[in-house]
Amino acid sequence: MTDSLPKDVAFVNPRAEHDFKGRTCSIVGVGSYVPERRLTNADLEEMVETSDEWITTRTGIKERRIASDDQFTSDLATEAARKAMSKAGVTGGDIDLVIVATITPDMPFPSTACLVQHNIGAVNAAAFDLEAACSGFIYALEIAQQFIMSRTYNTVLVIGAEKLSSIIDWKDRNTCVLFGDGAGAAILQNREQSHGLLTACMGADGGKAGLLSMPGGGSRCPASSDSLDNRLHYLRMDGKETYKSAVTAMHRAALKALERCQLNITQIKCIIPHQANLRIISAVGDRLGAKKEQVYINVDKFGNTSAASVAIALDQAVENGVIERGDLILMVVFGAGLTWGAAVIEW
Ligand code: ACO
Repeated sequence: MTDSLPKDVAFVNPRAEHDFKGRTCSIVGVGSYVPERRLTNADLEEMVETSDEWITTRTGIKERRIASDDQFTSDLATEAARKAMSKAGVTGGDIDLVIVATITPDMPFPSTACLVQHNIGAVNAAAFDLEAACSGFIYALEIAQQFIMSRTYNTVLVIGAEKLSSIIDWKDRNTCVLFGDGAGAAILQNREQSHGLLTACMGADGGKAGLLSMPGGGSRCPASSDSLDNRLHYLRMDGKETYKSAVTAMHRAALKALERCQLNITQIKCIIPHQANLRIISAVGDRLGAKKEQVYINVDKFGNTSAASVAIALDQAVENGVIERGDLILMVVFGAGLTWGAAVIEW
């Protein structure tokens, strides 16, 4: 990071300049969708032994959205995608690739991305799912950027979507208060302009896979009456260790992304962290030396929506006028895997 560079140098993506000969990857439209049903802390008090006071002080969450029984991840993703496409002025036929980041696909296969591709009429697009838990949207942005910069594709639809309510153990107060459902989407395109995705970086540590997982339903532990009896098809988490790893990894990822763009935190208009928990968000902001007003927060309204989290927050920040054309945005994420990542965008 440096303050000493001339302004015009500091705002250029070094990779676009040197490796990709001026091609830029712009986010030309964003959209999000959350289900209508609100589950408040008061509702949860009726379901498990908890309290609004405990949830609010430990997490900052007041309510979260829950999809209806006949609403699946592909439906949430499709709604968000349609909004992003409309804002970008893009039709289904314009899209070359659909990536859906999710840990709650409609089913193990076919991919949720294929279902969305059909729903939006993206008949010319390839489609696949990406699984990097709560880091999925940043992983997907980085992949989309690579396809665009390498001239493979011109228009990529990236979606983070989750129906986490389908894998929550509603009898486990340690986890059921934390999560919600929703989706966010972005259209990325090559555009002859300077602004766009300046950098995205990703990281992982499979040595800590056990901190946050859903043990059942895969090849290691296929569905059986035993796996059901042992509640293995629900999300499990070691909250304290997850918390520590999240703060460290998000701080490092944010610094790495800023350094790649030769920016410092004072130049960032808006930091959009993964909305897992207000205490994690505050700790990361403090370590980065950010001012409170730089950090975008909506965890109070939606809880942790995993891969959808930063995508929903980005859309809302744009809608609410928090982000304006030309602003620099830092997105930073962390999730199961462990995985983490960060991205810098010039809006
Ligand atoms: N209501 C009331 N009491 C509760 C609840 C609840 N919902 N949940 C746990 N408790 C109790 C525990 O049982 C424990 O009681 P005990 O001392 O009698 O055993 C007590 O509260 C303290 O539990 P801790 O786990 O020590 O509480 P902590 O202060 O660590 O907060 C929390 C728990 C909020 C989960 C915290 O560890 C945390 O934020 N972890 C990170 C979780 C997270 O954000 N994960 C997602 C990030 S990655 C991703 O998004 C995929």
